Amino acid sequence: MTRLENRVALVTGAGSGIGRASSLAFAVEGAAVMCADIDEAAAQDTAAQIAESGGTSAALKLDVTDDEAVGASLAATIDELGGLDVLFNNAGIGGGEAGWEQVLAVNLSGVYYGLKHAAPLLAERGGGVIINTSSIAGLVGLVGAAAAAGEMPDEPPGGAYVASKHGVVGLTRQFAVSYGRRGVRVNCINPGYVETPMTAGLRENEQGREFLSSLHPMGRLGQPEEIAGAAVFLASDDASFINGHTLVVDGGYTAR
Ligand SMILES: NC(=O)c1ccc[n+]([C@@H]2O[C@H](COP(=O)([O-])OP(=O)(O)OC[C@H]3O[C@@H](n4cnc5c(N)ncnc54)[C@H](O)[C@@H]3O)[C@@H](O)[C@H]2O)c1
Repeated sequence: MTRLENRVALVTGAGSGIGRASSLAFAVEGAAVMCADIDEAAAQDTAAQIAESGGTSAALKLDVTDDEAVGASLAATIDELGGLDVLFNNAGIGGGEAGWEQVLAVNLSGVYYGLKHAAPLLAERGGGVIINTSSIAGLVGLVGAAAAAGEMPDEPPGGAYVASKHGVVGLTRQFAVSYGRRGVRVNCINPGYVETPMTAGLRENEQGREFLSSLHPMGRLGQPEEIAGAAVFLASDDASFINGHTLVVDGGYTAR
């Protein structure tokens, strides 16, 4: 038997990187998956990949900064796929070009809206699982790209991103405490640098790539499928007593 048989999952940021890999992995484990992304075509593409391999999926356009739309996406998942057992609050943006307000809106408020709508709904339905994507930046400060190139940055790097991802750890713990008795487990995943479109700019030259790899004691970056594996585990009954946890998947980045 597969680990997510008869479960329904909603994944945000499902059109790319970690969200796409996790949607595919959830489906392989038997879940029906609602693929949500602000990039509707990308979400549809992930859903089509699931359908092509015989899984059950649907797609919708969702901007996680829209509080009401997040609530509506949960209702749409129940309508279209017949239930809701898992929410993977994964959509996020890097700190590079977006300003403070936008990074906090997507990475922190977006996760909050998911928790706020899904936790009571899952509790009412008899329980469920919420997984949030934080980061190593939810636990430690980051060394910026300028420092990677041996230069001193004009401004401290990654402030908004680091603040948003630390906030996700806090929200994870608060909702885990508040909803544990009601059958809802809430955890987060804290990836190291992963080879997705988000990090493409940092990896485009050999020097940047080698520097980032060197920060990970395993001497390499992560693959989206390695984060998806952690998400499947947390979503499954194998993690039935895991609640409020920050699951670091970083090749040892934060071990030193
Ligand atoms: N790649 C890494 O190294 C890394 C490391 C740690 C944490 N993370 C986190 O993992 C998550 C996924 O990142 P990724 O690396 O797969 O990036 P990605 O850029 O490949 O995918 C992110 C997806 O989120 C979608 N998205 C962006 N804004 C959105 C919004 N407002 N509403 C809905 N969808 C939106 C994008 O369209 C995209 O499909 C993010 O939360 C990111 O912060 C990534």
